[in-house]
Amino acid sequence: MIDRYAVIGHPISHSKSPLIHQSFAAQTHQDISYEAIEAPLDGFRATIERLVSEGYKGCNVTVPFKFEAFRMCKQLTGRAQAAQAVNTLFFRDDEILGDNTDGAGLLTDIEQNLACKLLFKKVLLMGAGGAAHGVIWQLFNAGATITVANRNLGKAQQLVAEFAPYGTVVSSTYEALAGKSFDVVVNATSSSLTDELPPLPDGLFAVESLAYDMMYGKQTAFLKFAAAQGAGQLADGLGMLVEQAAEAFCKWREVRPETAPLLVQLRELE
Ligand code: ATR
Repeated sequence: MIDRYAVIGHPISHSKSPLIHQSFAAQTHQDISYEAIEAPLDGFRATIERLVSEGYKGCNVTVPFKFEAFRMCKQLTGRAQAAQAVNTLFFRDDEILGDNTDGAGLLTDIEQNLACKLLFKKVLLMGAGGAAHGVIWQLFNAGATITVANRNLGKAQQLVAEFAPYGTVVSSTYEALAGKSFDVVVNATSSSLTDELPPLPDGLFAVESLAYDMMYGKQTAFLKFAAAQGAGQLADGLGMLVEQAAEAFCKWREVRPETAPLLVQLRELE
């Protein structure tokens, strides 16, 4: 029997993960199947238990189940513990093990694909929810100096408190960003889902800065704003999506797929 994998979310019909993983499998000659499964909002655990009993090897987990997946794991990688969320599960001998490849995916996209090295760069991370929590450790480990801005300042302060001993991560309101500029501005809020823009002041983007929206879709309100404000480079989250998938695929199959050809192909489909 071929090794079976899936992505679990709600909703899931829009997911590009089956296409991405099937493409990686063909490229690396791995005989696997990969499907999208929608779990009921109150049925994530039951869905996972079914996959385990049917002999699946693992799955990806997406919105809104990454925290529930985290709580189901017998063992976690350090980066999953740091994120307090899991997007990649391994089923081994009836045990559920969890990893989180989102932060690595973002970092690879920024540093490799977009050739923007983060060491000693000033990064503004917008948002303090699950998406921000999932990537902040990797940005920090890459050597960036990070400001976390959020409408609800208390949530940003809570996120930043984890980094208190290191001193290079601070929280801010959006108003207090006035007069400051950043080398990289990452939108980890869910504002693009509703085509809204966080209340950003003018002048945030340093010359040659990168504006990165973790949502995919070239025309998000944030990317339009960044273009109008003169950001040097604009990127949506498609690269992150492909890179987090490649990292998961690599951990499951012990072979690293090439991502560049697939990214070109997906851009053509947009
Ligand atoms: P996710 O897991 O996608 O991060 P979440 O935990 O619900 O989802 O967090 C959503 C984040 O987007 C929060 O940081 C939220 O800001 P608040 O905590 O201040 O509510 C942010 N957000 C959502 N819509 C926004 C908007 N229009 N402008 C600015 N921030 C927004």
